[in-house]
Amino acid sequence: MSTAKSTCVVGVQWGDEGKGKIVDILSQKADVVVRFQGGGNAGHTVVVKGEKFVLHLLPSGILHKSTCVVANGVVVDLIQLLDEMAELEKRGVKFGKNFLLSDRAHVVMPYHKFLDKHFEAGKGKIGTTQRGIGPCYADKAARKGVRVADLYNEAVLKDRVFAITDEKNKILAALYGAPPLDPQRIVDEYRGYAAKLKPFVGDAVDFVNTAIDKGKRVLFEGAQGSLLDIDFGTYPFVTSSNSDACGISAGTGVPPKKIGPILGVAKAYCTRVGEGPFPTELKDGLGEKLREVGGEYGATTGRPRRCGWFDGVTSLHAVQINGIESVAITKLDVLSGLDEIRFATHYKIDGKKVEVMPSETDVLARAEPVYKSFKGWTEDLSKIRRYQDLPKAAKIYLNFVERYLKVKVSMISVGKDREKTILR
Ligand code: IMP
Repeated sequence: MSTAKSTCVVGVQWGDEGKGKIVDILSQKADVVVRFQGGGNAGHTVVVKGEKFVLHLLPSGILHKSTCVVANGVVVDLIQLLDEMAELEKRGVKFGKNFLLSDRAHVVMPYHKFLDKHFEAGKGKIGTTQRGIGPCYADKAARKGVRVADLYNEAVLKDRVFAITDEKNKILAALYGAPPLDPQRIVDEYRGYAAKLKPFVGDAVDFVNTAIDKGKRVLFEGAQGSLLDIDFGTYPFVTSSNSDACGISAGTGVPPKKIGPILGVAKAYCTRVGEGPFPTELKDGLGEKLREVGGEYGATTGRPRRCGWFDGVTSLHAVQINGIESVAITKLDVLSGLDEIRFATHYKIDGKKVEVMPSETDVLARAEPVYKSFKGWTEDLSKIRRYQDLPKAAKIYLNFVERYLKVKVSMISVGKDREKTILR
């Protein structure tokens, strides 16, 4: 067996770090690109020669010659997947041997989407994308899920869907007064989608492992971000999967020893969508300015993103749980024109200095960030392609990020286009 490893791209913050663009660049040299968790809640924006692509379920590598894999850890909305494929086909992307959907992946069913919407209408809302992600992972853990392989066995599918729909209809009626779903209609509809996807379905565990063993270049593409991880994020304001490198093995069947190095992606500032603590959030005009200049609106839901300064404490947590060795800093150009740039080096919580991200979300919500201040710069960065050509103030800021996180800043993004990137 070869000792070749893979490369992994994960978000350091609460998602939307610009992983799509970074994966797109790295995919140019990857043989296989793998999504291992999440589902249609993701929105990866890639701009190629001024043309914008927003990918939700398919790995960003689909825009290249790489083979793209949607692995077992992903929860797949078949309608969304087929729509995404049709949209890309219209724009010249061809699907054949370049796409593999794991037969072990779980399927987002209509009742998952209904339940996600109803849960979110009540008290204690998480601010989900309402794509049925949480209810689908809940059924997976409760062993009530439908897997892609089940779609091709009519008797098994019928049994499962009838039993589960019966239960869900009771919940929908009792808790939300919603009309019942017709299980036979679901079976017929989903068998139809399955037929269309059949040429792409297979054993992704064997495929990805064999690719690594043969020395192929495999890239794992994380969705969401480390702080949305169900175990290590700001629970309960998280997504329902392990949205960092910790999720790769379980989400693909590739053993830990074949995984790495891990590239983290972080914005030069920080954003979050949905509810939950965000210690460095800027609730003033400056936050609004970052949102406007940075175009900080969700790629999946269009929701305005909350904006704030770079948080060293939560980022160090992400570096630790992922084993990040280098980071790509994105959207550095958005900071041009600010007099001052801030970076939270630690918190004050109940009068005490705190340098490690607290596990209790209500404690994190009380954190007062303590900032180190940096001088800003006025230059437009979008045409800069070499690190040495960056303004001195930008280099001082990036040097500090490197020293603080103890990682190398290996890529810097200064605009949406693929080309607007500085490699070091
Ligand atoms: P869900 O994943 O739709 O259940 O949403 C749970 C939380 O994760 C909410 O705060 C969402 O806004 C957030 N979330 C889910 N996917 C993304 C993403 O791709 N980027 C940023 N936030 C996300």
